[in-house]
Amino acid sequence: MLDYFRGGANDEVTMRENRDAFERLSLRYRVLRDVSVRSLETTVLGKPVAWPVLIAPTALQRMAHPDGELATARAAEQCGTIMTVSTLATTSAEEVRAATTARLWFQLYVYQNRDATRELVARVERAGYEALVLTVDTPILGRRERDVRNRFRMPPGVVIANLIPEGQETLPQVHAGSGLAAHASHVLDPAVSWTDLAWLRSVTKLPILLKGVVRGDDAAKAVGEGVAGIIVSNHGGRQLDTSIPTITALPEVVEAVAGRTEVYVDGGIRRGTDVVKALALGARAVMLGRPILWGLAVDGQRGVEKVLELLRDEFELAMALCGSRTVSELDRDLIATT
Ligand code: GLV
Repeated sequence: MLDYFRGGANDEVTMRENRDAFERLSLRYRVLRDVSVRSLETTVLGKPVAWPVLIAPTALQRMAHPDGELATARAAEQCGTIMTVSTLATTSAEEVRAATTARLWFQLYVYQNRDATRELVARVERAGYEALVLTVDTPILGRRERDVRNRFRMPPGVVIANLIPEGQETLPQVHAGSGLAAHASHVLDPAVSWTDLAWLRSVTKLPILLKGVVRGDDAAKAVGEGVAGIIVSNHGGRQLDTSIPTITALPEVVEAVAGRTEVYVDGGIRRGTDVVKALALGARAVMLGRPILWGLAVDGQRGVEKVLELLRDEFELAMALCGSRTVSELDRDLIATT
């Protein structure tokens, strides 16, 4: 199970590079700027968040801790941020909504069964979710070799609570390979295309964020199709191995979007300086995936809060040492060009 959370696709090059690319960037900090008074607050989709770190969608959270998504949602509330609930959550969208006053987004795949997709969207909209995060880097599941080797499947009693109306979906037992890959090959639609984005817009009033974009031309097209935001992501290195690290892709996307929508980034964010770098390069906020799962696994809600608190303190320190008092003062000039 740990390998499912920890792993990436194939040789895990992209997973490592997401991290290494942050480390390669150097900060040109400013001095003598009076950083005695600081604020981390910002807005995301026009509404306030306490700081620019959001919770990325990650699947199967009850495998990490019995409280699963409920713990993460409550921690999001405590820490003044937004949780993105996965389609592959092990708690239903409605239960998560009822457990917290945090802002919630819902991550979506377009399934072969468009009626089921539409019903899920309607449920999420009725429940009061604020936005849909459409994952577009996964027409087919990446090859996660740890899962193949482990013949990954979910432990008894853990279900994918959103997928089947009765809430009893589980991964198929497999004799070889990954249970998730077998499940995905049944439900994901490899034919998904730009026309499905238009279709999704026609069946929901919710704003749609496109997650999994790493190119300026794709981002510009998405803006033309009316998306409310772009999430620069390579699925934490779990899809196409050797794909471009997200922090390397971010500037091209920011430039192509040219302020028309917000841009967020995930992948490899572990330190406060990573948040500074992402914002300096034009991200409105960053999203955190695996670190949330590690906090959840260690101590449920409290563990997630601890992870977020540590990162918040680091971010505040890094911002101040850059000579910045507010997130809006983090600009591209802080990043050394090599
Ligand atoms: C699901 O989206 C996964 O990355 O396992």
